[in-house]
Amino acid sequence: ENKEGFRQSLLQWYQTEKRDLPWRRTSNPYYIWVSEVMLQQTRVDTVIPYYERFITKYPTMEKLADADENELLKMWEGLGYYSRARNLQEGVREVVATYGGNVPTNRKEISTLKGVGPYTAGAVLSIAFGIPEHAVDGNVMRVLSRIVLIEEDITIPRTKRIFEDVVMDLIDKQDPSSFNQGLMELGATICTPKPKCLLCPVREYCQAFYEGRQEELPVRTRK
Ligand code: ADE
Repeated sequence: ENKEGFRQSLLQWYQTEKRDLPWRRTSNPYYIWVSEVMLQQTRVDTVIPYYERFITKYPTMEKLADADENELLKMWEGLGYYSRARNLQEGVREVVATYGGNVPTNRKEISTLKGVGPYTAGAVLSIAFGIPEHAVDGNVMRVLSRIVLIEEDITIPRTKRIFEDVVMDLIDKQDPSSFNQGLMELGATICTPKPKCLLCPVREYCQAFYEGRQEELPVRTRK
Protein backbone atom coordinates (compact mmCIF):
# COMPACT_ATOMS: atom_id res chain seq x y z
CA GLU A 1 0.00 0.00 0.00
CA ASN A 2 2.05 2.94 1.28
CA LYS A 3 5.45 1.69 0.11
CA GLU A 4 7.17 5.06 0.38
CA GLY A 5 6.00 5.54 3.98
CA PHE A 6 7.30 2.07 4.85
CA ARG A 7 10.67 2.74 3.20
CA GLN A 8 11.18 6.06 4.91
CA SER A 9 10.20 4.77 8.35
CA LEU A 10 12.50 1.76 7.98
CA LEU A 11 15.42 3.84 6.69
CA GLN A 12 15.07 6.53 9.33
CA TRP A 13 14.97 3.93 12.09
CA TYR A 14 17.96 2.06 10.64
CA GLN A 15 20.07 5.24 10.37
CA THR A 16 19.48 6.18 14.01
CA GLU A 17 19.22 2.79 15.75
CA LYS A 18 21.54 0.46 13.84
CA ARG A 19 24.19 -1.39 15.83
CA ASP A 20 27.72 -0.20 15.23
CA LEU A 21 29.14 -3.36 13.65
CA PRO A 22 32.61 -3.46 12.10
CA TRP A 23 31.40 -4.41 8.60
CA ARG A 24 29.05 -1.42 8.67
CA ARG A 25 32.06 0.89 8.62
CA THR A 26 33.24 -0.27 5.19
CA SER A 27 31.96 -0.65 1.68
CA ASN A 28 34.88 -2.86 0.60
CA PRO A 29 33.08 -5.67 -1.24
CA TYR A 30 35.60 -8.27 -0.07
CA TYR A 31 35.04 -7.31 3.58
CA ILE A 32 31.26 -7.35 3.12
CA TRP A 33 31.60 -10.77 1.49
CA VAL A 34 33.67 -12.11 4.41
CA SER A 35 31.15 -10.77 6.95
CA GLU A 36 28.15 -12.21 5.15
CA VAL A 37 29.73 -15.64 4.82
CA MET A 38 30.58 -15.64 8.55
CA LEU A 39 27.09 -14.42 9.48
CA GLN A 40 25.35 -17.17 7.52
CA GLN A 41 25.38 -19.77 10.29
CA THR A 42 26.90 -17.79 13.18
CA ARG A 43 25.54 -15.03 15.41
CA VAL A 44 26.74 -11.45 15.26
CA ASP A 45 28.43 -11.39 18.69
CA THR A 46 30.47 -14.48 17.86
CA VAL A 47 31.39 -13.24 14.40
CA ILE A 48 32.80 -9.81 15.41
CA PRO A 49 36.22 -10.95 16.76
CA TYR A 50 36.63 -13.54 13.98
CA TYR A 51 35.89 -10.90 11.37
CA GLU A 52 38.42 -8.49 12.90
CA ARG A 53 41.16 -11.13 13.05
CA PHE A 54 40.37 -12.35 9.56
CA ILE A 55 40.63 -9.01 7.79
CA THR A 56 43.75 -8.16 9.80
CA LYS A 57 45.45 -11.37 8.65
CA TYR A 58 44.01 -11.27 5.10
CA PRO A 59 43.45 -7.57 4.38
CA THR A 60 43.16 -8.07 0.61
CA MET A 61 41.74 -10.71 -1.71
CA GLU A 62 45.27 -11.35 -2.99
CA LYS A 63 46.40 -12.20 0.57
CA LEU A 64 43.52 -14.60 1.05
CA ALA A 65 44.08 -16.12 -2.39
CA ASP A 66 47.70 -16.86 -1.38
CA ALA A 67 46.86 -18.08 2.13
CA ASP A 68 47.86 -21.49 3.39
CA GLU A 69 44.74 -23.61 3.74
CA ASN A 70 45.71 -24.96 7.17
CA GLU A 71 46.27 -21.44 8.51
CA LEU A 72 42.96 -20.36 6.99
CA LEU A 73 41.12 -23.20 8.69
CA LYS A 74 42.88 -22.37 11.97
CA MET A 75 41.50 -18.80 11.69
CA TRP A 76 38.05 -20.27 11.20
CA GLU A 77 38.24 -22.59 14.24
CA GLY A 78 35.17 -22.02 16.44
CA LEU A 79 33.02 -20.69 13.60
CA GLY A 80 32.30 -24.17 12.27
CA TYR A 81 31.13 -25.14 8.80
CA TYR A 82 34.69 -25.14 7.46
CA SER A 83 33.51 -25.56 3.87
CA ARG A 84 32.46 -21.90 4.11
CA ALA A 85 36.12 -20.91 4.54
CA ARG A 86 37.35 -23.13 1.71
CA ASN A 87 34.60 -21.87 -0.61
CA LEU A 88 35.38 -18.26 0.31
CA GLN A 89 39.03 -18.75 -0.57
CA GLU A 90 38.11 -20.47 -3.82
CA GLY A 91 35.65 -17.69 -4.71
CA VAL A 92 38.25 -15.03 -3.95
CA ARG A 93 40.78 -16.88 -6.12
CA GLU A 94 38.26 -16.79 -8.98
CA VAL A 95 37.84 -13.02 -8.58
CA VAL A 96 41.61 -12.50 -8.61
CA ALA A 97 42.17 -14.84 -11.56
CA THR A 98 39.11 -14.09 -13.70
CA TYR A 99 37.99 -10.57 -12.82
CA GLY A 100 41.32 -8.82 -12.20
CA GLY A 101 40.58 -8.62 -8.48
CA ASN A 102 37.26 -6.80 -8.97
CA VAL A 103 34.20 -8.40 -7.42
CA PRO A 104 31.52 -8.60 -10.14
CA THR A 105 28.76 -6.01 -9.85
CA ASN A 106 25.91 -8.00 -11.32
CA ARG A 107 23.99 -10.98 -9.93
CA LYS A 108 24.70 -13.28 -12.88
CA GLU A 109 28.48 -13.07 -12.60
CA ILE A 110 28.80 -12.83 -8.82
CA SER A 111 26.59 -15.91 -8.48
CA THR A 112 29.11 -18.03 -10.40
CA LEU A 113 31.62 -17.62 -7.55
CA LYS A 114 32.12 -20.58 -5.25
CA GLY A 115 29.99 -20.31 -2.13
CA VAL A 116 28.05 -17.25 -3.31
CA GLY A 117 24.36 -18.13 -3.26
CA PRO A 118 21.38 -15.84 -3.91
CA TYR A 119 21.51 -14.31 -0.40
CA THR A 120 25.26 -13.56 -0.36
CA ALA A 121 25.09 -12.23 -3.92
CA GLY A 122 22.32 -9.78 -3.03
CA ALA A 123 23.96 -8.75 0.24
CA VAL A 124 27.28 -7.89 -1.44
CA LEU A 125 25.65 -6.16 -4.42
CA SER A 126 23.36 -4.02 -2.27
CA ILE A 127 25.62 -3.29 0.72
CA ALA A 128 28.97 -2.84 -1.06
CA PHE A 129 27.80 -1.41 -4.38
CA GLY A 130 24.39 0.11 -3.61
CA ILE A 131 22.72 -2.00 -6.29
CA PRO A 132 19.01 -2.70 -5.73
CA GLU A 133 19.03 -6.48 -5.28
CA HIS A 134 17.22 -8.74 -2.82
CA ALA A 135 19.06 -10.41 0.08
CA VAL A 136 16.51 -12.72 1.68
CA ASP A 137 17.47 -14.88 4.65
CA GLY A 138 15.35 -16.38 7.43
CA ASN A 139 15.16 -13.12 9.39
CA VAL A 140 14.05 -11.15 6.35
CA MET A 141 11.39 -13.77 5.56
CA ARG A 142 10.05 -13.47 9.10
CA VAL A 143 9.83 -9.66 8.86
CA LEU A 144 8.17 -9.61 5.44
CA SER A 145 5.79 -12.48 6.18
CA ARG A 146 4.36 -10.21 8.88
CA ILE A 147 4.45 -6.84 7.10
CA VAL A 148 2.88 -8.13 3.87
CA LEU A 149 1.03 -11.07 5.48
CA ILE A 150 2.60 -13.85 3.47
CA GLU A 151 1.20 -17.18 4.64
CA GLU A 152 3.18 -19.45 2.33
CA ASP A 153 5.19 -22.19 4.04
CA ILE A 154 8.76 -20.87 4.32
CA THR A 155 10.18 -24.42 4.61
CA ILE A 156 9.30 -25.00 0.93
CA PRO A 157 12.29 -23.78 -1.14
CA ARG A 158 10.19 -22.21 -3.91
CA THR A 159 8.54 -19.90 -1.33
CA LYS A 160 11.74 -17.84 -1.21
CA ARG A 161 10.97 -16.52 -4.70
CA ILE A 162 7.83 -14.82 -3.35
CA PHE A 163 9.89 -12.94 -0.75
CA GLU A 164 12.55 -11.98 -3.29
CA ASP A 165 9.84 -10.52 -5.52
CA VAL A 166 8.39 -8.58 -2.57
CA VAL A 167 11.82 -7.10 -1.75
CA MET A 168 12.30 -6.03 -5.37
CA ASP A 169 8.91 -4.31 -5.22
CA LEU A 170 9.58 -2.54 -1.91
CA ILE A 171 13.34 -1.82 -2.01
CA ASP A 172 14.51 1.80 -1.78
CA LYS A 173 16.34 2.50 -5.04
CA GLN A 174 18.23 5.42 -3.46
CA ASP A 175 19.66 3.35 -0.61
CA PRO A 176 19.36 -0.39 -1.18
CA SER A 177 22.12 -1.04 1.37
CA SER A 178 20.27 0.58 4.27
CA PHE A 179 16.96 -0.88 3.11
CA ASN A 180 18.24 -4.48 3.13
CA GLN A 181 20.24 -4.03 6.31
CA GLY A 182 17.24 -2.32 7.90
CA LEU A 183 15.16 -5.45 7.24
CA MET A 184 17.96 -7.61 8.69
CA GLU A 185 18.30 -5.35 11.72
CA LEU A 186 14.56 -5.30 12.35
CA GLY A 187 14.50 -9.11 12.21
CA ALA A 188 17.46 -9.37 14.58
CA THR A 189 16.31 -6.88 17.21
CA ILE A 190 12.52 -6.25 17.09
CA CYS A 191 10.70 -8.51 14.64
CA THR A 192 12.02 -11.58 16.47
CA PRO A 193 10.09 -14.83 16.91
CA LYS A 194 8.44 -13.15 19.93
CA PRO A 195 8.24 -9.67 18.40
CA LYS A 196 8.44 -6.35 20.25
CA CYS A 197 5.78 -4.65 18.16
CA LEU A 198 5.41 -1.64 20.46
CA LEU A 199 9.02 -0.70 19.59
CA CYS A 200 8.62 -1.32 15.87
CA PRO A 201 9.20 1.65 13.55
CA VAL A 202 7.00 0.13 10.82
CA ARG A 203 4.13 -1.33 12.83
CA GLU A 204 1.68 1.07 11.15
CA TYR A 205 2.56 -0.67 7.87
CA CYS A 206 2.35 -4.20 9.30
CA GLN A 207 -0.59 -6.27 8.17
CA ALA A 208 0.05 -9.00 10.77
CA PHE A 209 0.15 -6.45 13.64
CA TYR A 210 -3.10 -4.93 12.35
CA GLU A 211 -4.71 -8.36 12.57
CA GLY A 212 -2.97 -9.33 15.84
CA ARG A 213 -1.43 -12.36 14.12
CA GLN A 214 2.29 -11.55 14.29
CA GLU A 215 3.16 -14.62 16.37
CA GLU A 216 1.50 -16.94 13.83
CA LEU A 217 4.01 -15.88 11.19
CA PRO A 218 6.02 -17.02 9.37
CA VAL A 219 4.20 -20.28 8.54
CA ARG A 220 6.28 -23.47 8.84
CA THR A 221 4.60 -26.81 8.27
CA ARG A 222 7.46 -29.29 8.52
CA LYS A 223 11.03 -28.70 9.91
N1 ADE B 1 23.13 -10.85 9.31
C1 ADE B 1 23.36 -11.05 8.02
N2 ADE B 1 23.90 -9.98 7.45
C2 ADE B 1 24.03 -9.05 8.42
C3 ADE B 1 24.50 -7.75 8.47
N3 ADE B 1 25.00 -7.17 7.38
N4 ADE B 1 24.46 -7.11 9.62
C4 ADE B 1 23.96 -7.72 10.70
N5 ADE B 1 23.49 -8.94 10.74
C5 ADE B 1 23.52 -9.61 9.60
